[in-house]
Amino acid sequence: MSATIEQTTPATTPDTSGESRRAVRIGICGLGTVGSGTVNVMARNRDEIAARCGRPVEIVQIGARRDNPACDTSGVDVSREIFDVAANPEVDVLVELIGGTTVARELVLAAIASGKHVVTANKALIAEHGNELFAAAAEKGVTIAYEAAVAGGIPIIKSLREGLVGNRIQWLAGIINGTGNYILTEMREKGRSFEEALRQAQDLGYAEADPTFDVEGIDAAHKLVIMASLAFSMPLAFDKVYTEGISGVSSEDIRYADELGYRIKHLGIARGTEKGVELRVHPTLIPQRRLIANVNGVMNAILVSGDAVGPTLYYGAGAGAEATASAVIADIVDVARTLESRPEERVPLAGVARGSQGGTRVLPMDEVVTSYYLRISAHDKPGVMSQVASICSDQGISIEALIQHEPAEGEALVPVVILTSRAREARLREAVAQIEALDTVEGEVVRIRVEPLG
Ligand code: HSE
Repeated sequence: MSATIEQTTPATTPDTSGESRRAVRIGICGLGTVGSGTVNVMARNRDEIAARCGRPVEIVQIGARRDNPACDTSGVDVSREIFDVAANPEVDVLVELIGGTTVARELVLAAIASGKHVVTANKALIAEHGNELFAAAAEKGVTIAYEAAVAGGIPIIKSLREGLVGNRIQWLAGIINGTGNYILTEMREKGRSFEEALRQAQDLGYAEADPTFDVEGIDAAHKLVIMASLAFSMPLAFDKVYTEGISGVSSEDIRYADELGYRIKHLGIARGTEKGVELRVHPTLIPQRRLIANVNGVMNAILVSGDAVGPTLYYGAGAGAEATASAVIADIVDVARTLESRPEERVPLAGVARGSQGGTRVLPMDEVVTSYYLRISAHDKPGVMSQVASICSDQGISIEALIQHEPAEGEALVPVVILTSRAREARLREAVAQIEALDTVEGEVVRIRVEPLG
């Protein structure tokens, strides 16, 4: 399909020196939620974008298997073959919004090989293949920009790459999966079951095509390694992230956390230590008084602590057509602004490109030190508490808080809830194994890590 674009802005815009600069020509691959959002926002804000960019920005081609009634593509060359866009000499910047990692990787490599800059919202692609793609892009002197890959519309990549560049980042912790946060919020506030809340998140279009990515923490792990690569100037290390999802979080644990003054949130945490960088994604108890503990529904938020600036918090929509389009367009404008500068003078887009700490060690989970929430199902018999306390003490773990209610009518088992002091993960695991082996204890001990975040 091909037609003439109705031009409301001239194809050149005067720059500050009064010269006219030619339009930046964009090719979009993928016309799903984010693709259609990008087309719509670019059309609506066309003049503002051109003015800020110093030149017009035009979509000259779209590669999509099918049309999307959510956006108007009349006047744009639409091809059913996405690789046409990578090969099109009229395209300066290829915007990859097809998702997945196999075809998307080939498409991005093809675009790079033909000298195009790439903008992508694809977190899995960057997290799993970013090292290879950045190397290919550096070789060709082109840029790969990926603001939209992490936390939708929140400009967290720019914040890490530019706004916080003078800091030594100490740690970051984020609610970076909207679906997971929506499910935990619905369970806590409306008493919904996990399954019911997940169905709702799917109906609302928040979840990934395969919701396992959301509920088992894979999506959050993708986003975490991307942020960590910038924060700690390290290569993308997706295979080294400790990943635990929210499918094991029960309404009972959410209630006990409330009673102790905490909220359960699914966090991605990266922390620099003397021995290496912690990279972990898991449900976490955080004090209710923290702002991030009150980030609810599908919203995302990321706390970043730098040695100079202290803790900073970034909050906003982590998904959705136009919120993500906002980040895609920010990248398009960034790339357009630097088209004439030498590649090495552009803002580096990946931690690994800086090459300063290529050998950063990711700390094995056994060496991570944190506090724990434990829920033990114990028989209502004397002596259980002293056995548990003595096992903890032998491992150098103190009990900071404890809840034990009367057993429910007719119930032989009673839940014992403990908050521990900070301890090495390996020691905690050993203590839990010993507690589970007690005759007075039934089943597995529920464990959720606790982070003060302050
Ligand atoms: N499924 C993702 C989420 C979409 O729920 O956060 C945005 O990456």
